[in-house]
Amino acid sequence: MVLLFLTLLLFSSSVVSGDTVGHGNVQDPSIDQLGGDFSLQSSQGEFSLRDLRGKVVLLYFGYTQCPDVCPTSLAVLAQAFKELSDTELEKVQGVFVSVDPDRDSFKILDEYVGYFHPNLVGVTGSESELAKVARRYGVKYNKVDLDDSAIGYAVDHSSITYLITPQGELRFIFPHQTASFMILEAIRYVLRDNSPG
Ligand code: NI
Repeated sequence: MVLLFLTLLLFSSSVVSGDTVGHGNVQDPSIDQLGGDFSLQSSQGEFSLRDLRGKVVLLYFGYTQCPDVCPTSLAVLAQAFKELSDTELEKVQGVFVSVDPDRDSFKILDEYVGYFHPNLVGVTGSESELAKVARRYGVKYNKVDLDDSAIGYAVDHSSITYLITPQGELRFIFPHQTASFMILEAIRYVLRDNSPG
């Protein structure tokens, strides 16, 4: 059963699926045209994807005040992480990129990602830095003013989880609502692929 799902996953991995749950339909480019290194900032200073060579990286774009899409996706990712052994976890890193830098301070980001899993780091950057990174990964987002709401605005955004190999290559793209065990299987698949011997 798991093998079947993984096979489906491998077949579907050449296609990027944009989230359509309240986030609009997006015409997506192919996986081959996406990905690559980027630098943003975390509470620990400069964050560079390049520094995570040797680890499987799970990358997600969102914002901490997201009512349901981000929490759901991060909970799914955290669930996959919780199935990993300590040894496996040493080679896995989750990265949450906030596309709402005006509201998501490093303190807020750290608290937010920490709530889901210790192997998650929260990063963000200037509007122009974020736009550049989002473009490279085919992520769409835009502010939507909310009338009669205390939070003022929401940010509609693609809900996609990206798996980047220890060599820094984008390998899998998981659409919104991908089951955690599929993400888990993909992480282990890539870890096995990269284990010595
Ligand atoms: Ni969200």
